[in-house]
Amino acid sequence: MSDTAEIVQHYGDGDIRDRLEQALARAGLGEGRLSSSDLAPLDQFHTRGLAATVELAQAAAIEAGAEIVDVGSGLGGASRYLAATFDCRVHGIDLSPAFVAAASYLAERAGLAGKVTYQSADALAMPFASGRFDLAWTQHVAMNIADRACLYGEVHRVVRPGGRFAIYDVVAGNAGPLHFPVPWSRGPETSFLVAPDAMRRTLEQAGFKVIDWQDKSETGVAWFAEQQKARAAAQGNAAQASNAARASLGLHLAMGPDFPLMAANLGRNLGERRVGLIQAVLERS
Ligand SMILES: C[S@@+](CC[C@H](N)C(=O)[O-])C[C@H]1O[C@@H](n2cnc3c(N)ncnc32)[C@H](O)[C@@H]1O
Repeated sequence: MSDTAEIVQHYGDGDIRDRLEQALARAGLGEGRLSSSDLAPLDQFHTRGLAATVELAQAAAIEAGAEIVDVGSGLGGASRYLAATFDCRVHGIDLSPAFVAAASYLAERAGLAGKVTYQSADALAMPFASGRFDLAWTQHVAMNIADRACLYGEVHRVVRPGGRFAIYDVVAGNAGPLHFPVPWSRGPETSFLVAPDAMRRTLEQAGFKVIDWQDKSETGVAWFAEQQKARAAAQGNAAQASNAARASLGLHLAMGPDFPLMAANLGRNLGERRVGLIQAVLERS
């Protein structure tokens, strides 16, 4: 199987849209318009969820009306947040047709179908004219992509001169091999992490200038510790949980019953410095 087919299989169990629809109905969210906060437990597929999206948007200084491409848009949480908050248009591309279908369904439920679009495509060959976008955005996608020079070259092509590239990514640490499975891969075959320095060099060689570069690893470690505490407290209070169905909304609905193990391994890898987190904003030459 090619890397691409394996990645689609990892993220692509066919009835994700239906599973989300049913879970939202069970949680009392079957009717009416849904906000970014309603959907955040299940549509922000990266460390620190909606909070990380809000931080990256602030760092990128997004302007109203901007045309944005979300590279590897997943279930579309970030694109809907950007469209709703900054009144911009966001075009999401993702390898997984099942994620594209689920993201489109969630956009309708959020009343944003006219402002966000999703299509199935490879980040290494995007179906857009050169210079089309004011901003390219990507969160937790590049770790599935071996050819970083090609990825950053393709992003450079679709962003206009003077436009920006906003990134929130997992990077290689310096403490040895990863514990698998992780949220992006079941094993080393489709995990292509690079160290922060190498990532920065490749971005600069592709024609980007660094405006802001922040190591978010410690913030991620603290977030995983809080999550663990919150889970332990919720288990202790299970009998009194007033809204268990709403509490059960999560990324396991898309990724299956192994997702808690994948997420726990990411927390462990971060804590042991086997991986790190970088948030960056760059300007296209
Ligand atoms: C961990 S999810 C992150 C999704 C989203 N960016 C988010 O933060 O919520 C990684 C996503 O990258 C997509 N992906 C991986 N390789 C890709 C490629 N070469 N082209 C487009 N999408 C890709 C996957 O299908 C998956 O939806």
